[in-house]
Amino acid sequence: MKEYNVAILGATGAVGIRMVDQLANSTVPVKSLKLLASAHSAGKVMDFNGEKITVEETTPESFDGVDLVLASAGGAASKKFLPEAVKRGAVCVDNTSAFRMDPEVPLVVPEVNPEQLKNHKGIIANPNCSTIQMVVALAPVFKKYGLKQVIVSTYQAASGAGQSALNEFYQQAKDYLEGKQMSADILPTAGDKKHYPLAFNLLPQIDVFEDEGYTHEEWKMIHETKKIMLNDMDATDLKVTATCVRVPVPISHGESVYFEVEDKSATAEDIKKTISDAAGVTLQDDPDHQVYPQPLNAEGKRETFAGRIRPDQENKGCFNMWVVADNLLKGAAWNTVENAERLVDEDLVKVPKNYYQK
Ligand code: A2P
Repeated sequence: MKEYNVAILGATGAVGIRMVDQLANSTVPVKSLKLLASAHSAGKVMDFNGEKITVEETTPESFDGVDLVLASAGGAASKKFLPEAVKRGAVCVDNTSAFRMDPEVPLVVPEVNPEQLKNHKGIIANPNCSTIQMVVALAPVFKKYGLKQVIVSTYQAASGAGQSALNEFYQQAKDYLEGKQMSADILPTAGDKKHYPLAFNLLPQIDVFEDEGYTHEEWKMIHETKKIMLNDMDATDLKVTATCVRVPVPISHGESVYFEVEDKSATAEDIKKTISDAAGVTLQDDPDHQVYPQPLNAEGKRETFAGRIRPDQENKGCFNMWVVADNLLKGAAWNTVENAERLVDEDLVKVPKNYYQK
């Protein structure tokens, strides 16, 4: 069996640590593993399948001899290093937003659009965490009944902003309960001027503000959904709008998803059956017994959970649904490794002659 030299870029981060673990529990045959981060973590030792591996500072030469890169070290590091890795013959699955909207880069959720993998030119992008779990739940409905419109409100966990944001959130909670002043230096986003506590609070800002008062996270949910479902980031056949909110939960995003199907004969029972038959999504929908998806139960799981599926009583063909998934696993590390598994299965771990070079 063919084996691969793999590198994880950003191995010490909230997602990177989980990539190491997901890779160890995957079908990807690993010949060797390099763990890459910034100079700050060089020398740190991490475990992979019982093997002790020393973390190295990332340089372009780190990718010499590497076949497959899994990256989650922020957009700037991906932009700097992934073209270098591709040039050296490595196929990269990137969890940052650096290349997602590039028409030459497939944006792939294996349960939804795996056929796009074969079009890669060396880089495959992993969608945003909040987009992934929504499309996993909606894709089977879209395929069976068509979709006209999606209105989503998110309840996103602190860990989505990285390990340091999660640490800041825990410290705030501790300080608040001890009657101390809470301090905030990262959230709602490191990229903006003002910072607010997340503990015992809700922050209706994820990432920076852009046109017409939407945040970049909201923009991503709209355009990534269109690119994944219709292969066109500006498709007008499917209308999508989003409100993204950071909530004081450490891990797992929740989403209230309102959607309108094209086939108006579809009932809530039809939608439930379609979702329960689909890959990667588990139906947890039993109001009589108070069964519905919750972040605490989703943490550590690879699948997406859907529940509270009910019809809009005033608009036929419209439904409400509640979706939860571990943002660090299905929303990031597992989707990346799952893409890598597919690349291996389909013998696509090779860089084509017209490789990505921007
Ligand atoms: P380090 O731990 O050495 O700073 P998170 O998303 O949890 O904040 O983690 C980000 C990850 O990306 C960490 O592993 C971090 O390494 C790594 N990283 C950040 N910037 C760079 C860079 N310029 N080059 C390589 N790795 C980076």
